[in-house]
Amino acid sequence: MSKQSEYVRRTYSITAQRYDMILKAYKVLGVNLERWRSDAIAKLPSISSARLLDVGVGTGKNIPHLISRYPDYQEIVGIDYTPAMLVRGQKLVRDNEWEKVGLVLGDARRLSEYFTEPFDLIISTYSLSIIPNSPLVLKEIRKLMKSDTYLHLLDCQKFKGILRIYNPLAILLSTRLGGSNETYSVPVSDISSRMFKSIFRRTFYAGLFYEDLYNGSKVS
Ligand SMILES: C[S@@+](CC[C@H](N)C(=O)[O-])C[C@H]1O[C@@H](n2cnc3c(N)ncnc32)[C@H](O)[C@@H]1O
Repeated sequence: MSKQSEYVRRTYSITAQRYDMILKAYKVLGVNLERWRSDAIAKLPSISSARLLDVGVGTGKNIPHLISRYPDYQEIVGIDYTPAMLVRGQKLVRDNEWEKVGLVLGDARRLSEYFTEPFDLIISTYSLSIIPNSPLVLKEIRKLMKSDTYLHLLDCQKFKGILRIYNPLAILLSTRLGGSNETYSVPVSDISSRMFKSIFRRTFYAGLFYEDLYNGSKVS
């Protein structure tokens, strides 16, 4: 395990117990991660009998929203690297008796070792800024996409333009969540827009957050 991966797992082992509290604290600062995820998922395109993958699923916060957006879903699979986060996700799945939801302990940088069948929608929220080597994760995601698979990414990134003077603060906040200068500095949205066919892109919160929707990849 690399030093950075060890650090992420260690951080999230502690964060797991306080994750809801952290989300509430961010909300007080106007960073409404919960509302942004629910709004984003509610707007996703219709897919019937969908197979869905959530990369960096954490405690399973996206799952209820995915189920309400895709009530006839075939299967929802989530993968995460931190056992303590997944334990909370598994409790959520058990408590709701969601039989077609499976959570896998694993590394998003090796997605294609865990899954062989492509998905209809792949989603990743607030995770690619944390996962070391996110370009590799994007390459792995691409292996699990068909020509019409949707990819939805929602995350934070560095400020651009005049606001970049605030980047040290943004990086510091990301570090509290297991990220690092290195993971946070990867321009994930720019890289993914070169790899996948974009159908929707927006930035918000003065450019600190982005939401991207793609449909299929440009190259294989
Ligand atoms: C900020 S949390 C986001 C969780 C969830 N997606 C959400 O929206 O609430 C980031 C998640 O990325 C996971 N993670 C970090 N490195 C990973 C890796 N290499 N593979 C899979 N998940 C990873 C962490 O364990 C953590 O659960």
